[in-house]
Amino acid sequence: VSRHAKSQALFERACKVIPGGIYGHKQPGFGLPGSAPYYATKSEGARFWDVDGNEYIDFLCGWGPVVLGHAHPAVEAAVREEMAKGTCPDLPGPAMVNLAEHMVDKISVADWAVFAKNGIDVTTWAIRLAREHTNRPKIVVAHGAYHGAAAWCTTHPGGVTEEERSDVLRMTFNDASSLEKLVEANPEQIAGVILTPYHHPTYRPQQLPDDDFWSDVRRICNRAGIVLVLDDIRVGFRLAKAGSHAHFAIDPDLVCYSKALANGHPIAALVGRQKMAAAAERVFMSGTYWFSSAPMVAALTTLQIIERDAVPTKIAVLGERFKSGLLEITHRHGTSGRVTGPPCAPYLTFDEDPDLFLNQELSRELFAHGIYLHPHHHAFISAAHTEADIDKTLEVVDHCLPTAIERAASIKRNWP
Ligand SMILES: Cc1ncc(COP(=O)(O)O)c(C=O)c1O
Repeated sequence: VSRHAKSQALFERACKVIPGGIYGHKQPGFGLPGSAPYYATKSEGARFWDVDGNEYIDFLCGWGPVVLGHAHPAVEAAVREEMAKGTCPDLPGPAMVNLAEHMVDKISVADWAVFAKNGIDVTTWAIRLAREHTNRPKIVVAHGAYHGAAAWCTTHPGGVTEEERSDVLRMTFNDASSLEKLVEANPEQIAGVILTPYHHPTYRPQQLPDDDFWSDVRRICNRAGIVLVLDDIRVGFRLAKAGSHAHFAIDPDLVCYSKALANGHPIAALVGRQKMAAAAERVFMSGTYWFSSAPMVAALTTLQIIERDAVPTKIAVLGERFKSGLLEITHRHGTSGRVTGPPCAPYLTFDEDPDLFLNQELSRELFAHGIYLHPHHHAFISAAHTEADIDKTLEVVDHCLPTAIERAASIKRNWP
C-alpha cells in the first residue's frame, strides 16, 4: 500500500467537487505529486501528521506563519477564551486597539496600524495608500518577487488583463540603478516601490541585501517623492522581534506583516508613518472578517512570546546549526550545496542543478523518511524545533543524499 494512499483517495474525491482538487500554492503540482502528502490531519510543535498517519518534522511551518510551533498552548488558550465570547460581533473589540497600541509601541516606523486577513490584503492596501498619497499611478516591484495572488502583482497566468498590470514596473533586487532608470523614464508617475527586506524568489537561491542597496533605494524614493513599502510578510517577527527593517536598517514608509504575526491565526497588518495616516483614513478598505478579535488576541500573545523568549535569536541559532550541517553533508557527498537566506529561513540549492532535480529527489527521499523539506521553497525554522530535531534531520539528509544524487543524475541522463 502506498504511503500516501489516503492522500491520493481524498484528492480523487476532491477533484470531483473542487476545481483542481487543491488550488493555489498547495496544489500537488507545485510539490512532488505522488511522493508528497496532500492532506494533513494534525500539527503540534515542530511536527505534523498527514492523513495516512505519517509523522513529519515540519520545515515549512504552515508556509511561514508558525513561528512558535504548531498549536502553541498559550496562543491557543488566548484564542479559545476570545472565541468563547462570540466569533463575529457587529463591532470591533478592544483587542484591535490593544494590538495596534502594542505594534505602534514596538515597531519603530509604526505610528499607526490597520488589520486585515491575508498578506495580499495589506500589500494591495499599501499600494493604494501610495497612490492616494502621491496622486500618481505607477508601482515598482522587483522581478521574481511575490506579493500575493491579486491581479496587480501575480506572476501566474489566468484572468488578468493588460490594463491591470500596466501600472506595475519591474526593477532588479539589489540593483538600485534599475530603480533609478525607471524613475527617470517615468517622471512624476511612480507612487510607490514595494520590496521584500531580502529577495526570496521561488525556485532560486535567496539574496540578502547588498550593503548600500536599502540606503540607495531610500535616497531615490526621497528625491522622487515615492512611497517606500516594505513587504515583510515572509519573515517579519521571525528574523527580528521589531520587524526585519530593524535587522537590515531599512527606513520604509509602510510595512506589511502577516505570516508570523499570530502563529498561524488569520491576520495581516499594515503599519505606517504618520505622513501616511491621512491616506489610510481616506482609502476605503474592508472585509467582513477583518475585525474578528480572536486572531488579534493571537497576534498580541504571539508578539509578546516572541519578545519574552527572544525567539528570533533562538531560531537563528538553530538555523545556523541546520545550515552548517547541510553544507558539511552536501559538500562531503561531492555536491556544491549552497544555503541562502537568513538562518531562520534557509534554502538549500545546488549550483550544478539549477533545474532543482536534486532538490526534488532529495525531498522525495526525505518525505519518505518523515522530514518535510520542500524542494522549491525555502525552509522555516520555528521555536518548537530542537537541536535534536535539527540533528536528526541532518542524519536523514546524510542517509538520503546518495540515493537522491544517483536518481537526479539518472533523470538528467535520460532527459530528452
Ligand atoms: C513576501 C510575501 N508577500 C505577500 C504574500 C501574500 O500573502 P497571502 O498569501 O497571505 O496573501 C506572501 C505569501 O507567501 C509573501 O511571502
